[in-house]
Amino acid sequence: MLKIAVCVSGGGTNLQAIIDSIASGVIKNTEIKVVISNKKDAYALERAKKAGIPSYYIGVKEYEDRDKFADAMIDTFRKHDVDLIVFAGYLVIIPEKMVKEYKNKIINIHPSLIPAHCGMGYYGIKVHESVLAAGNKVTGATVHFVDEKADNGPIILQKAVNVLEGDTPEILQKRVMEEAEWKILPEAIDLIGAGKVYIDGNIAHIKED
Ligand code: GRF
Repeated sequence: MLKIAVCVSGGGTNLQAIIDSIASGVIKNTEIKVVISNKKDAYALERAKKAGIPSYYIGVKEYEDRDKFADAMIDTFRKHDVDLIVFAGYLVIIPEKMVKEYKNKIINIHPSLIPAHCGMGYYGIKVHESVLAAGNKVTGATVHFVDEKADNGPIILQKAVNVLEGDTPEILQKRVMEEAEWKILPEAIDLIGAGKVYIDGNIAHIKED
């Protein structure tokens, strides 16, 4: 059984996709042990409560320094015996201590085709504003392992989404979530739970059936 922690900051639609995918069997052999948010009022925490999942607010500013914040996060992960940490709309640049402690055991969903439109300052709606400003005809989403840099690390899955005439950032964000994020994040978790994902150098591979 793959035991996961899901870290959130906002609405939690990606968390909901994971919850629903476990319930429907799209994700097998996996249990969400804990949900953690850095925002006390994140609706994602409501979603966790409704699903009966232990949830915590762990805010960076509640700790005297980032090292103590990292300790609080790591203690919570250990308390719930998690094997994999999933960043699902989690807007915290995490301390290196956490990355080292959970090397290649933290994954993130980013709403573009990395390495395009990613890195510091590219999150949420800003990503889609950048895609439209660049005149891209295709965008999408990426699930990748988390390393010390923002939106970096071995790519596990990507899914392309067309940019359409008349798209606003909001319309495009919704399409990328519906057609890509909410599909490839559950798929990546299921593949990891099945032991099908491995890293060779800085490239993630998926074992064929
Ligand atoms: C989504 O665009 C996601 O890709 C990004 O954060 C946004 C909000 O996600 N990482 P959620 O609704 O909180 O899952």
